[in-house]
Amino acid sequence: MYQTLITSLENNILTITINRPDKLNALNKDVFTDLNNVATEIENNAKIKSAIITGAGPKAFVAGADIAEFGGLTKKESMALSKRGQDIFARIENCSKPIVAAVNGFALGGGCELAMSCHFRIASDNAKFGQPEVNLGIIPGYGGTQRLIQLIGKGKAMELLMTGDMVGAEEALSLGLVNYVVEPDQLLDKAKELASKINTKGPLAIKGIIRCVNGHFVTGVDGFALEARSFGELADSGDFTEGTSAFIEKRKPVFKGN
Ligand code: COA
Repeated sequence: MYQTLITSLENNILTITINRPDKLNALNKDVFTDLNNVATEIENNAKIKSAIITGAGPKAFVAGADIAEFGGLTKKESMALSKRGQDIFARIENCSKPIVAAVNGFALGGGCELAMSCHFRIASDNAKFGQPEVNLGIIPGYGGTQRLIQLIGKGKAMELLMTGDMVGAEEALSLGLVNYVVEPDQLLDKAKELASKINTKGPLAIKGIIRCVNGHFVTGVDGFALEARSFGELADSGDFTEGTSAFIEKRKPVFKGN
């Protein structure tokens, strides 16, 4: 079904492994097509409640856009490439189900941008993050100049973007770029543990959280108004009735997402 991804669905969690280890999982056209299609699968398959994105092999999550595809692009083609990457990463960011990045090594350029488009990130202790595009005489084109500021603030983002320097997992943790650092063999377990916990919550509430938190960063969106509207919609849901009934009846809620 996918040329460049390995997927497996277990306990309602879709684990997606970008599978070009000999090229450090660099993002070529095929990977983008597959990521776009897997975003559709996550939205449409009711058996999937959350997803994890990781990279094949011990060395890299994703070492960037595939530099081999850069040569000879016109200005128009380069703009289209940037827009396509941005659009696909926006689909990941705005997916109504949680997507966790399990960063197992280099997350550079488009790899760092992909990780940043996920709802949050967990890193193995050998992970390295960076936006080295400046070394190639270009800038990040898949949302890196925008999402890095959102996650780590303007000053540090400026520094990393301008120097092209990499940061290790512990520094990424202290910057707020990742939420946890774990041993490589614990990475998927930690991601699955968090995804499983989220999967027990009301899917409509999770969708509302993603919508409202992302809404904060959209120009022209009144985040408080969006929150009040979403709160009102949720108050009218079967999940809210179930959540409050379960509390009163001292039992665990069984949310149906309706
Ligand atoms: N695009 C295309 N191919 C890439 C790639 C990328 N972004 N990153 C790595 N590769 C390929 C290498 O060309 C090499 O292929 P080859 O064996 O056919 O020559 C293979 O992956 C292994 O990479 P290599 O450079 O030999 O590994 P390394 O351990 O010496 O260095 C990195 C690892 C990540 C430091 C180095 O690969 C690198 O700097 N990659 C580019 C990072 C980058 O600039 N990303 C932003 C792109 S906009």
